[in-house]
Amino acid sequence: MATFNKILLTGINGQVGHALYPKLQSLGEVVALDRSQLDLSKPDHIRDVVRQTKPDLIINPAAYTAVDKAESEPELAYAINGTAPGILAEEAAKLNALLVHYSTDYVFDGTKTTPYTELDETNPLSVYGASKLAGEKAIQEVGANHLIFRTSWVYGAYGKNFMRTILRLAAERDSLNIVADQFGAPTSTESIADATITALHAWDGTQRGVYHLVNTGETSWHGFALEIIRQYGEIAQKKNLAKLKSTVENVVGITTAEYPTPAHRPANSKMSTEKFMSTFKTELAPWELALRSTVTHLATFSVENH
Ligand SMILES: NC(=O)c1ccc[n+]([C@@H]2O[C@H](COP(=O)([O-])OP(=O)(O)OC[C@H]3O[C@@H](n4cnc5c(N)ncnc54)[C@H](OP(=O)(O)O)[C@@H]3O)[C@@H](O)[C@H]2O)c1
Repeated sequence: MATFNKILLTGINGQVGHALYPKLQSLGEVVALDRSQLDLSKPDHIRDVVRQTKPDLIINPAAYTAVDKAESEPELAYAINGTAPGILAEEAAKLNALLVHYSTDYVFDGTKTTPYTELDETNPLSVYGASKLAGEKAIQEVGANHLIFRTSWVYGAYGKNFMRTILRLAAERDSLNIVADQFGAPTSTESIADATITALHAWDGTQRGVYHLVNTGETSWHGFALEIIRQYGEIAQKKNLAKLKSTVENVVGITTAEYPTPAHRPANSKMSTEKFMSTFKTELAPWELALRSTVTHLATFSVENH
């Protein structure tokens, strides 16, 4: 079992960074930094911070994640998502440290009809996807010890995400229109953090590479929204919470063409988790189960703070 002395965690205020932080404490001393303490758009700053911290494990969930805005800010997106991971990898190599990095389903073009494997060709449709792919390649070129976890449709009780947006909109509006022709796997931050810890426990220096780390099963954004509203409705009834205005009957499926966005997104971004599960000898939960745990947590939290 791997042991670590000092862990440098980036993006502590992001969804995945926030979920990782408490769980990493069991592995070693954690130095968790926000953007003001480690700005990934500044190469010299990255080098200085890593050299001062001297970690033997670097975990990098920080990223430029504004998918649509990236279309008009490509330089910044590439600096944070493309260049910075390579610098982290160079510094990790000098320290003989392991770098854990997160990437995205948006490296694919979505034309495949079955789940993407790690061997499938990439072909990003957006600046965001291309910048994240550049980051993967920069890490691989350095050749340091690394684990790159591609995930998708990330949500959690904390941060800005689709689940929380749906719950907010469903509380305000009588009906919602949601894209029904893009398919993928909603993945909870808790699942990503737990699976990362499992992989780190199993790390023996031989598993370097890219892995697909998502909850299992698949749905559309419309299917995801329906399940969020259905599950929240059940829990709200049991806990006597306020009802949502939108019911599942009033959530309408629409096409991508009816909801144009600056960035193009893959129609199918389902990814196979076989490599992750067999390498690290673990299971990943079905997305509906992971959602139930998050919605339950959120409902309990809102009752306690009522
Ligand atoms: N969200 C998704 O649906 C999704 C899907 C697939 C893959 N991923 C990947 O999963 C990883 C985690 O995503 P997430 O959902 O946790 O993202 P998130 O909630 O948007 O958090 C990203 C974090 O990165 C930080 N950041 C942005 N620019 C920075 C900079 N210049 N220097 C340092 N930190 C900076 C942000 O800081 P501030 O708090 O100051 O803004 C934020 O805390 C990322 O690699 C992302 O590409 C996400």
